Amino acid sequence: MAIQITPSLLNADFANLAGEAARIPTADWLHMDVMDNHFVPNLTLGAPVIEALSKAAQQPIDAHLMIADPDRWAPAFAEAGAGSITFHVEAAAAPVRLAREIRAQGARASMALKPATPIEPYAELLPELDMVLVMTVEPGFGGQKFLDLCLPKIRRTRELIEASGGEVWLQVDGGVSVETIERCAEAGADTFVAGSAVFGADDPGAMVETLRDLATSACAH
Ligand code: DX5
Ligand code: ZN
Repeated sequence: MAIQITPSLLNADFANLAGEAARIPTADWLHMDVMDNHFVPNLTLGAPVIEALSKAAQQPIDAHLMIADPDRWAPAFAEAGAGSITFHVEAAAAPVRLAREIRAQGARASMALKPATPIEPYAELLPELDMVLVMTVEPGFGGQKFLDLCLPKIRRTRELIEASGGEVWLQVDGGVSVETIERCAEAGADTFVAGSAVFGADDPGAMVETLRDLATSACAH
């Protein structure tokens, strides 16, 4: 299982996103949090910012859509150059059609679950997906406390992924730090979003590698 670190730029300097991306050269992806003030009580950025950053940064973009009606809006993010697009299943009207549309545009299709949303009703969707995102905080803001109650769901999601062939990445997002990343890796996550842990560090690039090392050794157990 390859470990990937996908720092969130939510708490980075929005006036200098390309410069912030350059501080984390070994990050596997740039996680960009798109919020619409409907699905979550916060408003961030849209496809034009993703398009500009995808041209200016060397890492591919992992767009996390915390928006209502992703069925309508997700394709625009593929056109804007995002390499991976995550929609929330709570907001999607037709998740299978949406995942197929994202893939047809050449991006990776990913489905996110809020903390209270179970994975089991969506197990049959796994072959349609490239990644599942298990949220470990309520979506909307960076810097929240990691919810340990999500760990059993990470474990169950990993089991379902293995049963379906094992190709789907399992991402965690929210409160991931040096204190919590090992728990997530032991439970079966392989892709780690970290916002405040990375951009609150003195050396964000070094923090990416510290998180990667912790996850890699926790996985080996
Ligand atoms: C929260 C976002 C996260 C956020 C994570 O809703 O989806 O990506 O930036 O920030 P931390 O790592 O600080 O919890
Ligand atoms: Zn996110």
